[in-house]
Amino acid sequence: MTLLCVMPLAALAENVSVSTPHNTIVLDINKGQEPQFVYYGPRMSDAVVSAMPRPTGGHLEAYPAYGYHVHDITALSIRHADGNLSTDLKVIGWDIKNASVTAPNGKTAPVQTLTINMQDAVYGTQVKLYYMAYQDVDIIETWTEIANTDKAVGKSLTKNSTIALSQFASCMLPIRRGNVYLSHQHGGHNSEARLFEEPLVRGEKVIKNTDGTRGAHLDRCEVMFSLDGPAKELSGDVIGAALLYSGNYRLRIDTDDTDWHYFSAGINEDNSEYHLRKGEIFETPHVALSFSQEGLSGVSRQYHRWGRQYQMANGDKLRSILLNSWEGVYLDIKEPEMDQMMADIKSMGGELFVMDDGWFGRKYRRVNDDCALGDWIVDNNKLPNGVEGLLKSAKKHGIRFGIWIEPEMTNLRAELYDAHPDWVIKSPQRDLRPGRGGTQLVLDLGNPKVQDFVFSVVDNLMTAYGPDSKLIKEHGDEYEPLTYIKWDANMEVLNAGSQYQSMDNQSHLYIDYHRGLESVLRRIRAKYPDLTIQNCASGGGRVGWRPMPWFDEYWTSDCTDALQRIYIQWGTSYFMPALGMACHISASPNHQTHRRVSLKFRTDVAMSGRLGMEIQPKNMTDEEKAQCQQAIRDYKTMRSVVQMGNLYRLQSPYPGHANVSPYSGRNLASLMYVSDDQKQAAFFWWKLEMFQHEHLPKVKMAGLDPDKMYTIHEMNRIDRHPLAFEGKAYSGAYLMQVGLDIPYSHDIDEETDWSSRVLWLEAQ
Ligand code: DGJ
Repeated sequence: MTLLCVMPLAALAENVSVSTPHNTIVLDINKGQEPQFVYYGPRMSDAVVSAMPRPTGGHLEAYPAYGYHVHDITALSIRHADGNLSTDLKVIGWDIKNASVTAPNGKTAPVQTLTINMQDAVYGTQVKLYYMAYQDVDIIETWTEIANTDKAVGKSLTKNSTIALSQFASCMLPIRRGNVYLSHQHGGHNSEARLFEEPLVRGEKVIKNTDGTRGAHLDRCEVMFSLDGPAKELSGDVIGAALLYSGNYRLRIDTDDTDWHYFSAGINEDNSEYHLRKGEIFETPHVALSFSQEGLSGVSRQYHRWGRQYQMANGDKLRSILLNSWEGVYLDIKEPEMDQMMADIKSMGGELFVMDDGWFGRKYRRVNDDCALGDWIVDNNKLPNGVEGLLKSAKKHGIRFGIWIEPEMTNLRAELYDAHPDWVIKSPQRDLRPGRGGTQLVLDLGNPKVQDFVFSVVDNLMTAYGPDSKLIKEHGDEYEPLTYIKWDANMEVLNAGSQYQSMDNQSHLYIDYHRGLESVLRRIRAKYPDLTIQNCASGGGRVGWRPMPWFDEYWTSDCTDALQRIYIQWGTSYFMPALGMACHISASPNHQTHRRVSLKFRTDVAMSGRLGMEIQPKNMTDEEKAQCQQAIRDYKTMRSVVQMGNLYRLQSPYPGHANVSPYSGRNLASLMYVSDDQKQAAFFWWKLEMFQHEHLPKVKMAGLDPDKMYTIHEMNRIDRHPLAFEGKAYSGAYLMQVGLDIPYSHDIDEETDWSSRVLWLEAQ
């Protein structure tokens, strides 16, 4: 008897791939068909790629368009000029190019780019999908271009050939079925970047922003997917996805009855239908993807490296230690205090002083936060010798000088608004709805005149006081140039509507705002590449990768309470590197939480990012100043490792979250940075609760060379007696497999709240 056995044959695909050093993405591309997703994961050889079968079970269209044969999980939806809502995209060609491109921060990046050209056979709309794999870092950027190349079809077209985009995701990435967990960050002003981790279940999960101006307000547009169960920090397969956009966005994960997870990311289309005239091209923001088999920390390290190299302005330069005036004097800026603060931060070893809000206003004086935004003219009552007087002080004290602005805003009570009421965002026919201080308004950056104005705010300051100004060229021995700007943005769009856009295009408001913002920032960077600019938006309201090509650092949060900062900085570190993470020592009791925290704990938390101070030093005792001086001296030793090193999150402060030890609970947090050559490392350990007989997990280090011997030295020490391991050397293997027993408390009698330790490791 012949047994006829029919085996299911996996359809062999026309597989096309691009790869980074350790990641590969594969698509199945055939002319006349829709491109299909095949694989994203560890790097695979060409031989393996070409034999890879299409995965089974899921809907794997790489960029599904609404209407023809897809109706549920879509990436694109177009209303064609004749009113037809359906689009049917088929591949008309593709290519892969190896090239060097200019990265957003101006550096040259070697990349391999796959471009897939698709077209609607009836209407002619062209869509290009891009997958750009960096050749020296593990990031693949993907994005889409949609072109109105529509031809006359049906009744329509000679009259009105504009098409309307109602959905325009940057990408769609199917994520395989399994026990997949999502990690994301949520939190508004003063509690940014709180981590949430949840299993992906059937249904739709949406993470979005609708603020209008500040894209990271409340939720961050970056997520990680742990593919095999709850997230782990140091092991396990993890995909990271960061949308590179600073405006309203939407991340969506649809899990249907296939149990595949369909991840799409892009601009939030709510109230943002975009009209594309004949010949126009709409480019979506990019999504940066990264895959690691070294857990969440592994993905973080990949984003940090890529970000420093290719996204962040001056990502290869160490950041200065600064004092910011905000929590020290708030709006009460006065020349003698500014001089005193400069002297104090200099005496503690600091390198830069930043004068925050309150220095400006002529007709309307900025004594409260209800006026004068837009009037970037010195208030001579507060600063009789103008900015020049402060630059003179800075020179005298041998310190850099920086200044605060909020250039996208104005107030009802401002000379700018008196002159240009038509420049503010305002719903047509309706009364204004002002924000902060009862009078703050957002300027409409979609308007080219507003763009020129916002550019001029920085340009005027730099022309008057920058390194190339007449003042500095002629009197550089007397005045320090202005070399730092803190760029703030404290308001959302409250009354959506544009006085600049036509009534047909009111829905362009949000998108054109961010296009305008980017264009201004690009102009500023082109003219002032060496100016240090801090990205601030009511604290961390704009923390994310998109604005960073034009910023050197970011204000992590207005919450400077050291205990809460551990959580905020932990979440922020998922995607953003310590190089730009402004972490400031502030007063106790803390101004936001009113918690009393020891100076030791405050310094140890601030030293794990870009160290700074946010305090009136006049109110500190000599002992406290000496302690800060020591912290700054120690930080200078560790600075390059903290700011440029590889991050290993060892023990999470979040209950039950990604802990590597069996202990869970809010009792301990620990992380470390290791230099690329593994010769130096900075280890941070913070106890988060104080209970008698509470026993803490022993933290194992990570990222060290097992064969190297490391000498341990405690930084920022306050204890009378040295730690048992002070000055002793241990192998990397011992430190990573066994770990050190850190005493739970300090041996001094002073109030220390919780305890903390910073250890410096140097290979012999
Ligand atoms: C909000 C910022 O986050 C603060 O640091 C400070 O600059 C204030 N704005 C000033 O108004």
